[in-house]
Order: sequence, then C-alpha cells, then structure tokens
Amino acid sequence: MMRFILMLILMLGLQQLGHTQQKEGIAVIPAPALVSMANGNFIFSQATLIQTDVQDSKTVSFFTDYLLHNWKFKNKTVIGKGAVKASSVLVITDKGAEKLAAESYELSVSPAKITLVAKGAGLFYGIQTLIQLFPNHIAGTAVLPCVTINDHPRFGYRGLMLDVSRHFFTASEVKNLLDLMAQYKLNRFHWHLTDDQGWRIEIKSYPKLTTIGSWRVPRIDDASYIAPPQPGEAATDGGFYTQADIREIVQYAADRYIQIIPEIDVPGHCMAALAAYPELSVTKNSNTKVNAGNSFARWFTGGFEMYEDNTLNPTDEKVYQFLDKVFDEVAQLFPYEYIHIGGDECFKGFWEKDAGVQAFMQKNNIKTTHNLQRYFTSRVNQIIVSKHRKMIGWDEIMNDSLNSTAAVMNRFGEKGALEQVKKKLNIILAPGGNGLYFDYAQSRSDMEPSSHGGNAPLWKAYNYNPDYKSFSQDDKKYALGIEACVWTEHIPSVSKLYYMVLPRMLALAETGWTMAENKDYKRFSDLALSRHLEKFDRAGYNYWVPPAFNYTDTTLTGSKFRFELKPVVPGSKIYYTLNDRFPGEADHEYKEPLILTLPPNKKYVLKTIVVTPAGRRSVVTRTVMQN
Ligand code: ACM
Repeated sequence: MMRFILMLILMLGLQQLGHTQQKEGIAVIPAPALVSMANGNFIFSQATLIQTDVQDSKTVSFFTDYLLHNWKFKNKTVIGKGAVKASSVLVITDKGAEKLAAESYELSVSPAKITLVAKGAGLFYGIQTLIQLFPNHIAGTAVLPCVTINDHPRFGYRGLMLDVSRHFFTASEVKNLLDLMAQYKLNRFHWHLTDDQGWRIEIKSYPKLTTIGSWRVPRIDDASYIAPPQPGEAATDGGFYTQADIREIVQYAADRYIQIIPEIDVPGHCMAALAAYPELSVTKNSNTKVNAGNSFARWFTGGFEMYEDNTLNPTDEKVYQFLDKVFDEVAQLFPYEYIHIGGDECFKGFWEKDAGVQAFMQKNNIKTTHNLQRYFTSRVNQIIVSKHRKMIGWDEIMNDSLNSTAAVMNRFGEKGALEQVKKKLNIILAPGGNGLYFDYAQSRSDMEPSSHGGNAPLWKAYNYNPDYKSFSQDDKKYALGIEACVWTEHIPSVSKLYYMVLPRMLALAETGWTMAENKDYKRFSDLALSRHLEKFDRAGYNYWVPPAFNYTDTTLTGSKFRFELKPVVPGSKIYYTLNDRFPGEADHEYKEPLILTLPPNKKYVLKTIVVTPAGRRSVVTRTVMQN
C-alpha cells in the first residue's frame, strides 16, 4: 500500500498538496530581521521577576497588563539597574539602546533570563514580539522558546487607512483597530474623515458639518438598487467624533506609537460638507443631501461623470476661509507632521459650466479646469503650511509647482510613483492594483461578501514589493513606506471590517516591516499565520478563513488524484462532497489523504469547506477532476 501511494505521488506529481507541516521556528508576524533559535525554554510564570530601568513606564505597564488580563499573572516589578537574584527574570533595559536604530530592539530569551534592550518605539515593538512568543493556550505557566532576535523595520511608514465616511465606526471601534495595528508594528493610521457619505470630525467654526453633514438616510449598502434620499426623509444614519473623542484617540494611538494622518478630502468628495454649506460649491444647490450610498456618477474607461455636484468652488475666497478654519482646527487636534487633503476624483463638469469660474480662469490665465485644481491645491498647500504642517494628497495633487515638503499618496502604482520620486516628492505606496485595497474581495468565490472593487487575495497583498525596478537607489529614498486602504462603501459593520482586514493586515505588516530577503509567503501562510488566526478565532474576531485549497475553482485532468489537506487554523475541520453539493458538517469529514481513481470519461467534483473551532467558515473550494 505504501509503495502504491508513493508511486501515485511520483506518477501524478500533483502540485496541490494543501498546506505543509509546520516547521520549527517562531511564528512572529511581521518576521523579524534576525532570528537565531537556541535550545531550551524559558518558563514564564507569576514568579518571574521583571526588572526595568527604562523611562517608558507606559510600555512596561502595557506588558504587565497583558500578563494580568491574559494569564492572571501579577509579577513583581523592580526599578533599577543592579544585578538581581532571581531564578527567572525579565530584564527590560535601555542600557545599550542608544546605539540602536529608530524602532529597533534586541530580545534574547535564555532558560533563566529574558533581556530586552530598547527605547521608545523599539521598546514597544520588543514587547509586542515578546507577547507573540507566549503560547495561545493559557495555562499556569507560559513556555517560551529560547531565541535571540535583533529587529528593525524595512520602512518607517507602515500605514492603514480607514474610511469612516462611507460607514461610521465609533471611537471605541477605532481604538480596537489601533490595538490590532500596534500588535503588528503598524505605525500610521490614516483616518479618512470626510467624504460624500458623511463628515465625521467636529469643526467648531462650522457646526453644521456635523449636525447636518454627518447624517444620512439609512440604506442597505449592497442592495441592487439604492434609492436616493426622499423629500422629508429623516437622516438617521451616521455619527461623528467630537474634538474630545479625537484628542483621546490621538493619545491612545500615540501610547501605541501610532501617528494619525487626518484626511479632509477636497475639492471633490465633498457632498456631505455641501449638504451643510451648499454655498461653498458653484451650483449652490440647497437641496444637496448627504449621499446615502446611491449612485450619482457614471464611470467609463479613462474618466467619470457626476450627476450631482460634490466639489468645492475653487474660485471663491469664502472656500479658502472655510478651509483655513477647518485645517486650523485639524492641526490643533492632530500633531502629526502631515495633513491629507485628498484631491482625488474631482469632477470638473460643474466648474466648466459656471460663468463665474470661466471668468476667474480668464482673469487669472488658467487655461484648463485641471489647472484650476492645481491652483486650488497650491492654495490649500499654503493653508497647510501656515498651520506648520506638510500636505499629503492622492496622486491627483501632482503639480509642477508643488513645493518639496508636500508628499503624495500613490494608489496608481509604479509609473506614477516614478514620476513622483523624480520630482523629489516623498511618497507613500498604497496601490490598489497590488492587493493593498482591502475593500477588494479576498477570493473569486461568490460566497465572498459584497465588495467594492477587484480582487486582492492574501498572497497578492503579501507579495507586493515596493522596491520598484524602475527606481534608482536615490529614488528609493523618497518612498517612505506603504499603506493599505479600507474603503467602506460595503463595510457597514465591525464584523465585516475585520473579515476584510484579517488576515491581509498581517501581510501588509510583513511587507512594511520585514526585510525583503526575509519575506517568504510559505512561512507566512503555512506556519506563522496559524497561530495568529487561532488567536483571532478564540478572541471572537471575524476573519477570512483560509480554505482547504489555495484556489477556489479549478479543473484537473487525470486518472488518479491524491489530496493531502491541512487547515491553517489549528483544530479546524474540513468537510467535503464529491458530487458538486455544497459541503457542511453532515458531509464527509476529511481525516486522511484523499485518493481518487477515475475511469475514462468520468468526473468528480470535490468541494471542501473549512470550519474553525469557533465555527467560522471558509469559502467553498471546487475542484473538478476529469479523465
Ligand atoms: C481613491 O481610491 N479614490 C483614493
């Protein structure tokens, strides 16, 4: 029998063997720069003494809170540098940390002693790595592997963008996402605070932005028809952050070494602001309503047309007075050096039809409405600079006259990025086409929930390489880092948010942090991910469950087939059918490699589903075998 199976493997050379066995190693995500495993373990218990001399008591408390909440350990902490007598000790020290690069740390675990050398953000990241060495299974003690880690990031900017306009997420939901980002060493939260579907930040000088602009009529986001707001219909869906909420979130993020980039998207994407202050547009339509998700544009190859005006009037000084006040309040709330001004997808059709705009353009020798947006952008840049901040915006802000302090958030990929760095503009790479738009579907299965754009499977998000071939060494200096975007047109709930973000956010983290030469999709997906997904499964997060096969639909030809499957999430079960039916718990449970023999002119249709210990399900895979 053994010979028969071996022969089958040799004969078929079947590539699809599911997920490989776990290899020895640590499952830290993002993978550290340098890891050397050693023999033995450190037994962490309540008796482990924590000795620290670092100034950053917040990070030390972060760790002791972790111990208390997860392990119920109340470890004794001593402050100081002297040698201590203890058979089990964790030393957290900044001695020797002066020589370490920003955000880096050294962690060594030996049988009786753990030493973490770091300061500031590096200390925080060292603690995150240490926490990841703890097992998922809570017991009286925690057995940690002996290992030495020297770690530092590949990029200084490792970001995630959340669109809170298309759907609102509360302050505590935002904090939860920040917690998760911090665990994976992401350090920039780009907060897309305004758009056509809601203005989410309290601006004291313009109160209607939130009393009117943050509320819309309720609609189901993925209905095949979304009705526009009806006359007299109550706007009950939405919400906003007060300035107190924002201050609290900024501090919460800072405690986790995350900086927040606020985005006020202008001059397009402004329908919510115009519902509050229609006089800021050229059409001044007092019937403007916050968009409810209903379509108001037509997209075609190379362009789009908008049926409703959602743009600010770039020729009106009142608009610049408005923006001056708005960015003044924004700058007071957010200490980060950059403020994002959007700039994307600005429809010029209403400007083109407006006599006042035409007269302005003539008078100022502005030949095209494209150049009129450039004029607008440079005015906004002046405002941002006057608040002692630097401007960042989407690709569309590219402008011959941009001063070198401005930065571009590139979503269109290499060609545009090259033009941007050649102009010596700092850029952040957030290319939707490379898997970094997390509103895209994670597989081609029709079991995926509704999504906004294309396809961005985990492997695609993981394999994105920001070191573009066309970049010279000098060009690379301008690429500050990477970011993934979560646009929320089709994300109305926290549950769906996490489904879309996990596990792709972990792939993002590894691209942002891990040295290119240490990136390895197989290690990530087959070894490291299982521990992290098990943790999410236990903690009650919704997440995308990797299916039993890496594809969702394929056809194989042959007479003999062998499938060896291993679910990524430990303890999951795989159920299957061989007759094209949708599989579930009442069907066959996969227990051992499946060996199938098929006579000529026959076919099998193997369908599989993975069900995790918490009951979360993968999409169904379909494998057609024909002979
Ligand atoms: C964008 O995708 N409109 C920034």
